[in-house]
Amino acid sequence: MENKIEITGKNGQRMEITEAEKEKRANIKKVNDEFKKINAEKSKIINEQELWKYFFEKPKKNYNKYMYEMLEFPEYLMYNNKDVDKYCGKWNEFFGNNNDIYLEIGCGSGNFTVQNAEKFKDRNYIALELRFKRLVLGAKKSKKRNLDNILFVRKRGETILDFIGKNEISGVYINFPDPWEGEEKKRVINENLFSKLDVILKTDGKLFFKTDHEQYYEDVLELVKTLENYEIVYHTRDLHNSEKANENIKTEFEQMFLSKHNMNIKYIEIKKIK
Ligand SMILES: C[S@@+](CC[C@H](N)C(=O)[O-])C[C@H]1O[C@@H](n2cnc3c(N)ncnc32)[C@H](O)[C@@H]1O
Repeated sequence: MENKIEITGKNGQRMEITEAEKEKRANIKKVNDEFKKINAEKSKIINEQELWKYFFEKPKKNYNKYMYEMLEFPEYLMYNNKDVDKYCGKWNEFFGNNNDIYLEIGCGSGNFTVQNAEKFKDRNYIALELRFKRLVLGAKKSKKRNLDNILFVRKRGETILDFIGKNEISGVYINFPDPWEGEEKKRVINENLFSKLDVILKTDGKLFFKTDHEQYYEDVLELVKTLENYEIVYHTRDLHNSEKANENIKTEFEQMFLSKHNMNIKYIEIKKIK
């Protein structure tokens, strides 16, 4: 039988473990300590640089590691409101061409917009997201593919008028937004969004909406009927068995809904008619 030794656990309790287990524990502790040290050093640098001010009211002891990683992709990711707002009405200057600009609100880790940017090199894409990790993942994918027609921006969808000019956008994608069951007023797609699209979306431009949520789908169809500047030009309760299935680019959530839950995806195209 293997010899056991007595040690004191994290909470002061006495435990008996083997030499091998002791060594394994020591290795895990070493890795954890190193990680904490690196994190603390990075947090110190971030505090010195005052990067936290862009995101939080007060400095913190430790930050989400993806917050620092955002700094590694200046050509693919903007997080500073001042930098972003400066380009209001001038996004074609940013991209260095006169190509159409498409916007995605709530892009997750960017699969949808990255694949679009790869497929349609003659279009520009701006993708909005709030979560640091998802923004970094999107930027990484874009850099890996050497794309020059895509930018990730840490901005709320509700603030588009702060940084997008009149008629600057040719199409808007909103894929699998939170349905906010019971708190529907918080949804990204509401009358307020359309009043902003009145400004930023070109006439004949479209809003493309995908969801797994039956009620959200129904509610958007009903809402658009009440809007004189917009018209439903296509809708289906089963995108993957529709005529649009071939051209459809799947998002991360879509992939998950399909593989785990085998759900029908609902889809609506809404055109701005004046
Ligand atoms: C359910 S996920 C869907 C992500 C992606 N579109 C997909 O289909 O895989 C919704 C995403 O929207 C982001 N989000 C939520 N509210 C937002 C807002 N007001 N503005 C921008 N992004 C938002 C969330 O952080 C989240 O990543």
